[in-house]
Amino acid sequence: MWYRRLCRTPGSPGHVVGRIETPGIPRLDRKSVKTIGKVANLEKRTAEQVGLELKNGLGIAHTRWATHGFPSEENAHPHLDSSGRFAVVHNGIIENYQVLKKHLQDQGVKFASETDSEVLSHLIAQCYNGDLFDAVAGALKKVTGTYAIAVISSEHPGVMVVARCGSPLLVGVGSGEMFIASDAAAIAGFTRQVIYLNDHDIALVTSAEADIRSLDNVAVNRNVSCIDWEPEAAEKSGFDHFMLKEICEQPEALANTIRGRLDTRAANARLNGLNLSPYELARIHRIVIAACGTSMHAGMVGRYYFEDLAAIPVDVEQAAEFRYRNPIIQPDTLVIPVSQSGETADTLAAVREAANKGAIVAAVCNVVGSTIARESGRCIYLHAGPEIGVASTKAFTCQVSVLLMMAMLLGRNRRMSYQAALELIAEIENIPQLVREVLETRSHIETVARKYAKADNFFYIGRGYLYPVALEGALKLKEISYIHAEGYHAAELKHGPIALLEDKVPVLALANDLPGKDKMIGNIQECRARCSPVIATATTGDLEVEDMVDDVIRIPRCSQYVAPIVTAVALQLFAYYIARERGCEIDQPRNLAKSVTVE
Ligand code: F6R
Repeated sequence: MWYRRLCRTPGSPGHVVGRIETPGIPRLDRKSVKTIGKVANLEKRTAEQVGLELKNGLGIAHTRWATHGFPSEENAHPHLDSSGRFAVVHNGIIENYQVLKKHLQDQGVKFASETDSEVLSHLIAQCYNGDLFDAVAGALKKVTGTYAIAVISSEHPGVMVVARCGSPLLVGVGSGEMFIASDAAAIAGFTRQVIYLNDHDIALVTSAEADIRSLDNVAVNRNVSCIDWEPEAAEKSGFDHFMLKEICEQPEALANTIRGRLDTRAANARLNGLNLSPYELARIHRIVIAACGTSMHAGMVGRYYFEDLAAIPVDVEQAAEFRYRNPIIQPDTLVIPVSQSGETADTLAAVREAANKGAIVAAVCNVVGSTIARESGRCIYLHAGPEIGVASTKAFTCQVSVLLMMAMLLGRNRRMSYQAALELIAEIENIPQLVREVLETRSHIETVARKYAKADNFFYIGRGYLYPVALEGALKLKEISYIHAEGYHAAELKHGPIALLEDKVPVLALANDLPGKDKMIGNIQECRARCSPVIATATTGDLEVEDMVDDVIRIPRCSQYVAPIVTAVALQLFAYYIARERGCEIDQPRNLAKSVTVE
């Protein structure tokens, strides 16, 4: 059942895994099993066709996230060459596959799938001259695009050739066995020792060693790192879903993010991964935050922090657009890529673009040793523990906390007073407790959520610090419940979207008692005048909003700096309970992958 344990990590479609035990798989034992749907389907079919355990041999597996061709058995990996001797699993996109495919077809090669990946197995077969390593290296020199691949051949029992370019890949070092995977969470239950491969690395892996080389066959040295969390952290621990577990463990995750980073004597933050002297900090005159999805929403909260606390102008960039827009980057620009996985292709491309243009790059990542963390040179880790549920929850709140501490550091380097910093430190230290208080209201949030679970459309509105939280709340709801949800600045509704409001379209208004609340009350009235049911977040003890809305979700009193974190937790729970009421696949929503390693 090794492939199940390796593949089971929810949210890992698109990932590649493999395992090598003692050498010597008899040729007749070669089997390839494919299914569509869940890994459990594959487990069942494998049990029927092969038996559940990998005995004395090696295997590769892949949970495909469809790029070229529908999810079907034909398009599922591994892809074999026409002779059936070479099997390949591939994560990434072969951009020149059409040219290569046409060329191969002209030579009489028959293709069995619609995928781009299949060209690899045929190319390897063509390049094969008795040496598997050379054949794979030869094939890879012909392709452009991104890949993490694992290749095995019936001609070479006990040997796997793996390579990466643009998609993550690591080798797990076991005792008398080796593993390969796209994500450490897949192998943490087998070994803690991992070697992260770099782009253009290719390795010949046996049960005893990994010989890592460049595509030109020059040996390269890669360090062995240790996975810094316990394998149990990647278990559900009695929760129905990883998402709920990860929402509920936020007090601990946030405490881990904050721990050791606040210095009350100096009234400052201590962020070792940043590694910039006060002189270098003072030279930063602009900040660009590049990120995708939830991480971008965290970056949008960060913009408010940097501008308010440090008076540094900030642009938040959709990482996918950053590279292609030819952004203006100067030597005094600090670029902050924000990424839970540290592997998001678009964010990684932004890191490379920023570094090329001479920016100071300092990442905010969760996954230690991830590509973005390594390539940025500087990284402030979240220490949130593995996030398995596809919908990002604890990473968001921890990212926002890190950005708040960064802003305090830059603020203290400029205009923020000792006293103001001390007050902020006290607030940051109280975040885990405030989040605990929100979690204690879970059952009320569940009751409210169930009431709205049948809605087809939803609006989330916010202002100021809670505007990005409205965007994030809407994203959470749509991705796990499949309800169409839009996040808007509350003032923006009247510029178009208000046309959609009616009695079947609920509005979730973030009406905490913070600057801008009076304006939000006006916006709530506008929604009510269009007959939309309104659910509001309101500060505990603030009764003003209560009378004008249908339902209230209480948020403990806190400043605008901390409110985005605490309020986001309530919205995560709200989305979770709606999705559960609708019977959705919460940890693995359709069409989504945990780390998006294709552009
Ligand atoms: C949504 C979600 C995604 C990710 C995005 C970036 O819940 O998880 O929007 O935030 O794909 O991923 P990272 O943070 O790994 O770069």
